[in-house]
Amino acid sequence: MPLIQMRTVYLKLSLNFTAFGRWIASVAAIAVLVITSPALSAAIPPEPASTALQLEAMLGRMTLPEKLGQLTLEWGGRINDTNPQIAQSKTEELHTLIREGKIGAFLGAHGAAYTNELQKIAVEGSRLGIPLLFGNDVIHGYNTIFPIPLAEACTWSPELVEAAAAAAAAEARASGTRWTFAPMVDIARDPRWGRVAEGSGEDPYLGSVMAAARVRGFQGDDPFAADKVLACAKHYVAYGAAEGGRDYNTVDLSRRTLREIYLPPFQAAVEAGVGSIMSAFNEINGVPATANRFALTDVLRGEWNFDGFVVSDYNSVGELVPHGYADSPARAAALAILAGVDMDMCSKTYSAHLQEMTQDGTVSDSVINEAVRRVLRSKLRIGLFQQPYADPAVEASLRSSQAHQELALSLARSSIVLLKNEGNLLPLRTDLRTLAVIGPLADDTKNPHGTWAGIGAGAAAVTVLEAIKARVSPETSVRFVKGCDLAGVHEDDITGAVAVASKADAVVLVVGEPESYSGEAHCRTNLQLPGTQLDLVKGVHRTGVPTIVVLMNGRPLSVAWTAEHVPALVEAWHLGAQSGNAVADVLFGKFNPAGKLAITIPRNVGQVPIYYNHKNTGRPPSEDRWTSKYLDTPWTPLFPFGFGLSYTEFAYSDLRISPLEADMDDNLVLSATIRNKGDRAGHEVVQLYFRDIVASITRPVKELKGFRRIWLEPGQATRVEFSLPVHRLGFYNSRSEYVVEPGRFKVWIGPNSVNGLEGALTVQRR
Ligand code: NOJ
Repeated sequence: MPLIQMRTVYLKLSLNFTAFGRWIASVAAIAVLVITSPALSAAIPPEPASTALQLEAMLGRMTLPEKLGQLTLEWGGRINDTNPQIAQSKTEELHTLIREGKIGAFLGAHGAAYTNELQKIAVEGSRLGIPLLFGNDVIHGYNTIFPIPLAEACTWSPELVEAAAAAAAAEARASGTRWTFAPMVDIARDPRWGRVAEGSGEDPYLGSVMAAARVRGFQGDDPFAADKVLACAKHYVAYGAAEGGRDYNTVDLSRRTLREIYLPPFQAAVEAGVGSIMSAFNEINGVPATANRFALTDVLRGEWNFDGFVVSDYNSVGELVPHGYADSPARAAALAILAGVDMDMCSKTYSAHLQEMTQDGTVSDSVINEAVRRVLRSKLRIGLFQQPYADPAVEASLRSSQAHQELALSLARSSIVLLKNEGNLLPLRTDLRTLAVIGPLADDTKNPHGTWAGIGAGAAAVTVLEAIKARVSPETSVRFVKGCDLAGVHEDDITGAVAVASKADAVVLVVGEPESYSGEAHCRTNLQLPGTQLDLVKGVHRTGVPTIVVLMNGRPLSVAWTAEHVPALVEAWHLGAQSGNAVADVLFGKFNPAGKLAITIPRNVGQVPIYYNHKNTGRPPSEDRWTSKYLDTPWTPLFPFGFGLSYTEFAYSDLRISPLEADMDDNLVLSATIRNKGDRAGHEVVQLYFRDIVASITRPVKELKGFRRIWLEPGQATRVEFSLPVHRLGFYNSRSEYVVEPGRFKVWIGPNSVNGLEGALTVQRR
C-alpha cells in the first residue's frame, strides 16, 4: 500500500476520537497495516504531533498504578507448571496484570506467537493500549550463536562486531524481542570474574570502540527499522572491579579510575545513541550502583545528556536492603528512582511501594512522571506503537540463516589468537598419515557455544573433530580419544589418549573450560585447566609427537606449563556455532589467524589483577632485588594485551610524528610503515600507545589510543596513519577536571602492548 493511502486511513480513523484515544486508535490502525505488510515499515509516517505532546497527553490520562506499570519489568516466560491448573491460574494472573496496565516490559518472553499473544492483551485489552516492551539477553547471538564478546573483541574489528550484533538483532526482533540487555561494556581486569567472558576485555579504548559498534549493530540508524532492537549498555558501573573477582562483590576505587577506566565505554555507548542503560549490582565506594545518583544522574544525564531510560539489574533495587543501604523494600524503591533508575527489573518494589512513597511525599509526582516519560519516549522512538507485533513469517525465515552462519564463521575465525607457533608447526598439512584429535572439547557440541548463547544453543555447534575430518585428505586417518573429562574426574582415559597420540604424526589437543565456568555468578580462584586436563597435556607431550593445544574457554587461563612445553598454542575461546570450522580453518591455514588479545593472560592467579596499562611505581621491576616483583614468578604476564601471532610476519619501520612540538589544540599525525615480510597474505592489527611521562597525577606506562586492522599481501607495505587530537592525551587531575598537561609523551606504534617503534613528542604550554 503506498504511503499516501496509509495516511488516509490514519486520518479517517482520527476523526471520531478525543485527543489521546484518537492517537492510540490511529497508531493501532497503522500497526494492523504494518503487521500484514511488514515491508511498509520504513514508510510509516511519524507520530501525528510532536513526541513531547503525545507524551504529555498520555501522562495526563494515566493513573498512578498505570504509571508504575510502565516502570515495571517482570519475568514473562511461558508458564509451564507441571500442574495444568496452577499453570492456567498463573497465566491468567499474568494476563490480568497486563490488562490492568501494571506491567510495561517483560524479560524471558520468546517467540513471535507468544509475544504477540501477550502484546494483544496490552494493545487491545488494556485501558490505554500501551504496548509492552519485550527485553531479552541477546549477548552473542540469538538463533545463530556468535563467539563470546571477549572473543569478538579479539578481532579488533568493529565492522565484524557490528555485523554480528545486527544479525542477532534481526533474529531476536523477528521472534518478538524489541530490546536486548546488551552490550555488556564492563571493563574487566580480573579473569577470576566469570563475566569477563561477556565484555570486551581490559582496555577502555578498545572497550569503547566495541561498545559503540554493538550499539550501532543492534539499533541501526533508523529506530523504526523492522530488524532492529533497542540496546542497553550494562552494568552501570564498575561492576568488573569487584574485589577478588567475586561476582556482585564490593567495588572501592577512586573517582579517577572510575572516570578513566570504567566510564568510557558507557559514554561511548551513549554517544552512539544507546537507548537504555542497566544499573549494576555492585556498590561503588559505599553507594550501590542502583542508588548511585552521582553515576545515574550527575554523570549520565548531567554530563552526557543521556535521554533514554535506566533499568535496574535483576532485583538490584530490592538488594539495596541486604547491601545495608535501605531499611525496607519501600525505601529501596524510593532511593533507586530518586537516584535515576526509571524501571525496576523484577524486584516488584516499584509496583508495590512507590504509590505509598509518593503519598507520604518521599517521591514526588514529577519524579515518577519523568521516569514514565523516559520509558514511553523510548517506546515511541522505536516505533513500538506502530509495530507492536512480531511477524511469524519473518521469524520462520530467520530460524536458520546461512548468511548468519557464514558471518558467525567469519567472526569465529577472526577471534582466534595464535599464541605460539614454534618452528612453524602450524599450519598443518591436510595429507598427514595419522592425525590424533584428543581432548574433552574436541568433539563437544555444547560447551563451545559459550556462556550466554541464545536460543540457538539448542543446536549442535560444529566440533573440531567434525571439521578436521571434513578437511583432511581421504588417506589421512583421524583418531579421536577424549582422554579425560572437562571438569572433575569421571572418565579418565589419559593412557588411551597417550597411546593414540604416540602413533600419530601430529596431535590436536582441545582443552579448556565448560561454558558454565564463566558468566554470571561463575567465578574461579584457580585459572588453570579444570580437572585432569593438564595431566592429559603432559602425557601427550611426553610422546614427543608434535602437538598443537587448542584452548576453548571463557576467560584467560593460566597455562604456563603448556605454553612453555607445547610447540603450538591456539586461543580459540568459546566461539559459538561455527567453532570447529573456525579452528580447523586456522589449523590448516585456510585462514591466517589475526586475533589479538583483548585481555592479558596471567602466568598464575597470584598475579591478578594484571593489566597492561598499570602504573610504573617508584621501583619498577628490574634485575635489582628491591623492585616491584615476585620471588616465585616473573612479574610479566604469560601473554600481554594486544598480542597475537600470524602465519606471516609484519615488519614495522619509519615512525613519524607530527608535530614533534605540539600545541594544546593541535592534531597529531602519527604514522609507520608496515610490511608483510612473509609469503602469506594476512591481517595485522596496528596499535598506537602513548605515555605521559611526568604529570601531576602519575600516568599508566602505556595507554592504547588507536588501532587499525589492515590487510597486506605477501611483500606488500603500507603506511598506517593515525590522527589524534592532543586533547585525547589528557586525564583527570586532583580536582577531577579533565586536563592535558604540557610535557613529554612517549609514543609507540606496534603489534602489541609490549613491542613497537618508539618515539616521543612534546606538548607545549599554551
Ligand atoms: C542479571 C544480569 O546481571 C544481567 O546482565 C541480565 O541482563 C539480567 N539478569 C536479565 O537476565
